[in-house]
Amino acid sequence: MRVIIRKTYEEISKEAANLVKSRIEKKPDLVLGLATGSTPLGLYKELIRMNKENLISFKRVKTFNLDEYYGLSGDHPQSYRYFMNTNLFDHIDIDKSNTMVPDGTAEDWEEFCRYYENQIKKAGGIDLQVLGIGSDGHIAFNEPGSSLSSRTRLVALDAQTIEDNSRFFQDKSQVPRFALSMGVGTILEAKEIILVANGKNKAYAIAQAIEGPVTSLISASALQMHQRVTFFLDEQAASELKRVNYYKFVEEAEKKIGKEIF
Ligand code: GLP
Repeated sequence: MRVIIRKTYEEISKEAANLVKSRIEKKPDLVLGLATGSTPLGLYKELIRMNKENLISFKRVKTFNLDEYYGLSGDHPQSYRYFMNTNLFDHIDIDKSNTMVPDGTAEDWEEFCRYYENQIKKAGGIDLQVLGIGSDGHIAFNEPGSSLSSRTRLVALDAQTIEDNSRFFQDKSQVPRFALSMGVGTILEAKEIILVANGKNKAYAIAQAIEGPVTSLISASALQMHQRVTFFLDEQAASELKRVNYYKFVEEAEKKIGKEIF
């Protein structure tokens, strides 16, 4: 695992965007997994800038989002489809028909989840998955206790997640109680993963994910089982890590050999 720590949110957003850019340069038809939440907004802003300045193109890129609130249609301002359109897709040269977000209105959600997994397979699998992390250590909507081999499915949201996400709704009662979410097993099949986290309220989750035991109670800890993961953390999110000196040492070593060390 690579752990990149920088002072500010702006710096980690830029570094994460540079990694995405380098992967698109290598593979212009990259299959990109995307996340919602406030964390990736800086990264998306940077990708938009790079696209506007003709430094990268999304013309051949295909995207799959991690999750969607169950019960919200794509035109609901709090739906993750709406979020992706307004914060990224509407501002870059991507073909919208190449952007996939789980359908929160699918009546037969079991059938839809199978279809979504199949679409990922048909695309050749996800090349690079972008993740945020919940304050309780969840990735996508894989709440504590989610099986580490879970697949795309209907998830009941945890009280903590409803509380955390209520800031986006008029009041807590409006936060959907269910979501469709890629599973931990689905996410682990991505060929490469980056996780971005900032702020003190992520420090515990990050320390558990990187240095704690692998446990379904912190679904991000399953990333320890993956061979190509990079964490981009600001100093506050990294503040409960014990091995910061080692992560810095590895970064120096990377500079010396001019290669990423996972
Ligand atoms: C939700 C999303 C996650 C996201 C998390 C953290 O639960 N399903 O994908 O990582 O929120 O959001 P934020 O970045 O706003 O802290």
